[in-house]
Amino acid sequence: MAWQSWTLGEYEISTDPAKIDVGVVHWFLTNCYWARGIPEEVVRRSIENSICFGLYKNGKQAGFARVITDRATFAYVADVFILLQYRGHGHSPWLMECILAHPELQGLRRWALVTADTHGLYEQFGFTLLKHPERWMEIHDTDVYKVRCI
Ligand SMILES: CC(C)(COP(=O)(O)OP(=O)(O)OC[C@H]1O[C@@H](n2cnc3c(N)ncnc32)[C@H](O)[C@@H]1OP(=O)(O)O)[C@@H](O)C(=O)NCCC(=O)NCCS
Repeated sequence: MAWQSWTLGEYEISTDPAKIDVGVVHWFLTNCYWARGIPEEVVRRSIENSICFGLYKNGKQAGFARVITDRATFAYVADVFILLQYRGHGHSPWLMECILAHPELQGLRRWALVTADTHGLYEQFGFTLLKHPERWMEIHDTDVYKVRCI
């Protein structure tokens, strides 16, 4: 399928992975609370295997999100961020709108995401707390990116 793109003034959201500034995305993620220390190679691989949504101002990376999905039944929204200097302009709801409008992400049985403190953003789009948390299980290795000293 062709890459999707949406424009609003000087801003663009695009799913074209060639436009992504991997260095910027890695810099943000390796310093954020949920992926601290993530190696650039892992970021690159995650981009290759996801539907990525880059936010650009005049071609410069301003934000990012990616969707991990089978494109049929399930999608997981991950690594959502707007760079500090571009925050406070409503870009994050626009990013979510574009994600949910993507033609390959229609009719899914379940969407999921994990957030520490941004529930209000996602609630606007129909996300709720888990109705049956007792049915969910996970393996979560919080030390996965810690440098191991020998
Ligand atoms: C969370 C983030 C993407 C929001 O982007 P932003 O530019 O700061 O916020 P926006 O201007 O796009 O917000 C527009 C609306 O989204 C909602 N929203 C944004 N951040 C929110 C938050 N932390 N909690 C609740 N609602 C939020 C609000 O409705 C807001 O409207 P308001 O300002 O009228 O209240 C951005 O702050 C960010 O990158 N934070 C660091 C990374 C992060 O925490 N990512 C989310 C991981 S799940």
